[in-house]
Amino acid sequence: MKDAAPQTIYLSDYTPPAFLIDTVHLTFRLHPEKTRVISRIEFRPNPATQSRAFFLHGEGVTLIRASIDGQPVTPDMVQGGLRCDVPDAPFVWEAEVEIAPAQNTALEGLYMSNGMYCTQCEAEGFRKITYYPDRPDVMATFTVRIEGDMPVMLSNGDPVEQGGGVAVWHDPWPKPAYLFALVAGDLVNHPGAFTTRSGREVELNIWVRPGDEGKCAFAMDALKKSMTWDEEVYGREYDLDVFNIVAVDDFNMGAMENKGLNIFNSSCVLASPETSTDANFERIEAIIAHEYFHNWTGNRITCRDWFQLCLKEGLTVYRDSQFTSDMRSAPVKRIGDVIALRARQFREDNGPLAHPVRPESFVEINNFYTATVYEKGAEVIGMLKRLVGDEAYARALDLYFDRHDGQACTIEDWLAVFEEVTGRDLGQFKRWYSQVGTPRLRVTDDYKDGTYTLHFEQETPPTPGQPDKAPQVLPIAVGLLGPNGDEVRETTVLEMTEAKQSFVFEGLSARPVPSILRDFSAPVVLERETDNAERAFLLAHDTDPFNKWEAGRALAREGLIAMILQGAAPDAAYLDAVQSMARDDSLDPAFRALALGLPGQDDLAQTLHDRGHTPDPQAIWDALETLRQARAQHCQDLAVRLYAQYQVDAPYSPDAGQSGARALANAALALITRTDGGAQAQRQYDGATNMTQQLAALSCLLQAGKGEAAVAQFYDQWRDDRLVIDKWFMMQIVNADPEQAATVAGRLTQHPDFEMKNPNRFRATLGALAANPAGFHHAGGAGYRLLADWLIRLDPVNPQTTARMCSAFETWKRYDSSRQALIAEQLDRILATPDLSRDTTEMVSRIRG
Ligand code: ARG
Ligand code: ZN
Repeated sequence: MKDAAPQTIYLSDYTPPAFLIDTVHLTFRLHPEKTRVISRIEFRPNPATQSRAFFLHGEGVTLIRASIDGQPVTPDMVQGGLRCDVPDAPFVWEAEVEIAPAQNTALEGLYMSNGMYCTQCEAEGFRKITYYPDRPDVMATFTVRIEGDMPVMLSNGDPVEQGGGVAVWHDPWPKPAYLFALVAGDLVNHPGAFTTRSGREVELNIWVRPGDEGKCAFAMDALKKSMTWDEEVYGREYDLDVFNIVAVDDFNMGAMENKGLNIFNSSCVLASPETSTDANFERIEAIIAHEYFHNWTGNRITCRDWFQLCLKEGLTVYRDSQFTSDMRSAPVKRIGDVIALRARQFREDNGPLAHPVRPESFVEINNFYTATVYEKGAEVIGMLKRLVGDEAYARALDLYFDRHDGQACTIEDWLAVFEEVTGRDLGQFKRWYSQVGTPRLRVTDDYKDGTYTLHFEQETPPTPGQPDKAPQVLPIAVGLLGPNGDEVRETTVLEMTEAKQSFVFEGLSARPVPSILRDFSAPVVLERETDNAERAFLLAHDTDPFNKWEAGRALAREGLIAMILQGAAPDAAYLDAVQSMARDDSLDPAFRALALGLPGQDDLAQTLHDRGHTPDPQAIWDALETLRQARAQHCQDLAVRLYAQYQVDAPYSPDAGQSGARALANAALALITRTDGGAQAQRQYDGATNMTQQLAALSCLLQAGKGEAAVAQFYDQWRDDRLVIDKWFMMQIVNADPEQAATVAGRLTQHPDFEMKNPNRFRATLGALAANPAGFHHAGGAGYRLLADWLIRLDPVNPQTTARMCSAFETWKRYDSSRQALIAEQLDRILATPDLSRDTTEMVSRIRG
């Protein structure tokens, strides 16, 4: 079938499926070019609907034969699938199709990666495997027979039969097709075992390519921790005899929660101290947990339709962030999450791709696996929990699991359990799922005769298609500090529901200093006229770690804005305050490392834009450089002291304690590099015994313009390790001088190790260019052209990754008219490309506006 004009799908058009399925039997005869898939599906009419129209999705599959109840049929081949006349009673559909996994570079459906067969079916990839009602509200039990000459052949559920070129798997839990998975290849396993609290013995395996078996222990340990945590915190046990994880080199996303057979991008599972940074370890632990937690939030209870994606993703991100907080430091996790939320989700909310946590329409659902659905979706759950309290949250979740196990649900189902448990009306709260944009929360205050009043005003700016906004429910966590820095009012959660609202605190002996939006209790932009003295006071005294960090960040940001707009000198108040904070050994080293961070270039650009200025990427970069240099001079002695003091002597462990010490020592190294010309960084590079040290030193050397020898050495050392070579590509581009960034990236696309077909390598190169804002937005436009060139080349190969990376252009309207013209030219060039994918067409059209 030829593609017709792309269709927009609407939430409001949802209709239940005409037919339901009881069981599915699939047989795969594996062959790289000619895999046969034989399906036997028991359909029955859905009693809940009148419609008897029988439609099966199918894309790029060749139908060989089909029959109903054993009688051959000739279906109507239509756009996106087939139709057929069927009985108004239960019947058995059988079909045989042919597909070509070796030709599948889109990495959706059944494809090959380094000689291994694997699948990715979420969201709508199963229809590339066979004809099927590929929608999440059709749930069935699957039995899968794999015939092939691969030593290891896996599918969902428990093994039934193995050997002689055949493997049979049966999954007793009804599931939608997006959770189907198949893997076959020459794999080795890292084994493990877990006993659930009710006594089920579960066999655990992490399957990898031979040679990678030594990099699985950490992920295995993270899996066991996740299984224990979900039992203890949510009362959720694992429900099969086997849990398999497979590492795949070519993967569009991070990982996938297929029932009993999670498939991971190898970068999200393989870890060793020599090849992975502390940050990599933490991310692996979180993603293992995330995919495991989906077994209940996603698999046992799934989504009715793809508009409900946040039902499983927001909740599962929230659960994995709780897990990380429990395993590591809760404040450090929260600060890291807010940095990421602002960098990705606020950016999305403030641009042309803004959409609700529950979108109301889409052309290509893969374009909605976004920071808004995932991370803002998780923030919404955090607010709900804060509003109802921990105890009611736990009861609501119990009810949710009880009532909806085995179902495909909606946000309405989710909110209903909270309404029932608490007796609250969540009608207004529900706006968080439909209203687009980041609310601005303005605060003023007054104090008179022992009474302190906070006046809040909320307003959400217009977004594409949503000009007018209604007030949202905002949980605002507030504490008050007295003039001497003591906390005079502990944290209380103010519940704001009106556009304007005031809250009164009585019986204060002096005007307090407010600490507002503690723990970042709502995903809003807080606007308050205050001064650097108050910020420095909060940085020194706030008992809330998030707001303590936030005060330092605000101090840095205001200083930088003054430097950018007025050519001011680096702010002495900031330099002194950050120095006192950094030297305070009673504070967690990881916290101090975070507090030594500076707002990102993109963050500053957004702030300038919000305040009515046109950001100049080069000026932002210059100001950051000047401030970094001034800080290095100001803190010279302290940096040397911290660097020595926080070296880790014990054998490497990626735990929070050691990672925090290394983060602080490496922050000190960055300061030292600016005064010693890179001598210390070179010593650390030469003596590094783990990747965290080696990579931090390499980055310092590159920023100092002294990276050449280390870059060559690094390549020689790691040329055979694909994941480490990704870092090698990325480091050179991210740390390049803005003048050079596009040139360096362009040169690296010509390197023999550059592989467009591997999403990790593509992101490590072109994604890294976008992550160097001053370089990407260099006035000549070379960065824009290079990215567009490669997006155009990648689109026919891998539309999903192409579309995703178009978001590098999403901030274009912030910039001056000449940059806007340069970007518009590239967007139009992409859009004019013949046969551009539906994925990329949707993204670029939305960005172009
Ligand atoms: N459900 C997966 C996860 O969050 C992500 C799958 C993404 N798939 C996609 N086609 N965008 O764990
Ligand atoms: Zn997920």
